[in-house]
Amino acid sequence: SFATTTSTKLASAPRSKGAKRSSMALTRCSLVTVAALLVQLFFFLAGPAAAAGQVTVFWGRNKDEGSLREACDTGLYTMVVMSFLNVYGHGDYRLDLSGHPVSDIGGDVKHCQRKGVLVSLAIGGPGGAYSLPTNQSALGLFDHLWNTYLGGGGGGSRRSSVARPFGDAVLDGVDFILEHATPAERYDVLAAGLAKRSSVSGGRPLHLTATTRCAFPDRGAGRALATGAFERVHVRFYGDGGGNCTLYWEDAWDRWTAAYPRSRVYFGLPAAPPEQGGRSGYIYPKTLYYSYVPALQKAANYGGFVLWDRYSDKQSGYSSYVHSWA
Ligand SMILES: *[C@@H]1O[C@H](CO)[C@@H](O)[C@H](O)[C@H]1NC(C)=O
Ligand SMILES: *[C@@H]1O[C@H](CO)[C@@H](O)[C@H](O)[C@H]1NC(C)=O
Repeated sequence: SFATTTSTKLASAPRSKGAKRSSMALTRCSLVTVAALLVQLFFFLAGPAAAAGQVTVFWGRNKDEGSLREACDTGLYTMVVMSFLNVYGHGDYRLDLSGHPVSDIGGDVKHCQRKGVLVSLAIGGPGGAYSLPTNQSALGLFDHLWNTYLGGGGGGSRRSSVARPFGDAVLDGVDFILEHATPAERYDVLAAGLAKRSSVSGGRPLHLTATTRCAFPDRGAGRALATGAFERVHVRFYGDGGGNCTLYWEDAWDRWTAAYPRSRVYFGLPAAPPEQGGRSGYIYPKTLYYSYVPALQKAANYGGFVLWDRYSDKQSGYSSYVHSWA
């Protein structure tokens, strides 16, 4: 409409005498050029490419990746997912952060949050020993998460009666990455419990996310996703994503984005190729930009990128390329 208005004005500009004709034509020509440039600029600024630069990174799988604080200080990420809480479901709960000193993390979490970076905790992962066979076990994990990492049991500087490894720091969310869960498990009960807390007014918003295999649907997370409680779905187009979906990624992308229209869907990819310590499914930045980004951005609920992981990204600098297309 901007272009139309401009050219209408130009066309209806008073036609002056012969002497001024040629200079008018020249002015008009350059005005049209300027208008065209403005239109391009307008689309560039308004287009999804210039949106918020949403890049999420997994952190906690390699001590050499540097601290949580350092990850947030790069300014490259809008969310960091700590990984993993990978023992639960049988009365025992364990967090595995690959030897990162846990005593520093509470301070780092607050530092990240002050910089506007969300910090969440992933449950599940490829290793560990976890399952939620019953409602009882799901409610047990809910209590553990709420009291140990979120707003209960001494979070937000209330006096604590529970051991909180990160002190009074309150995490921003929970990510479900259920690599060996079965459809019968009660992650739906956990999700519903967390969603109920996130809507309690006055508290810090709780961001629920799920990191799924790219093969649709995800065996472990399907039942939880069906609760509609998830703000985001991170689809892993790397590693053991399941079936052929890294090859037919566009098809998988369409299925995920259509299945969860009320969630933001993120494209998950490795920050380095396997020979540099990353995962299979690595996409060169240029290929990502020309062959993937236009298709990803067609989905109204496209959210951004999720990178595996901070260690690889630190080696490759991948996020500094993809940041502007997220
Ligand atoms: C588990 O919780 C769900 C959802 O609240 C409920 O529908 C179901 O009946 C419960 N199952 C048992 C065995 O209590
Ligand atoms: C992958 O695609 C090939 C060719 O279409 C098919 O034969 C094969 O069964 C597929 N594999 C999986 C795991 O879906």
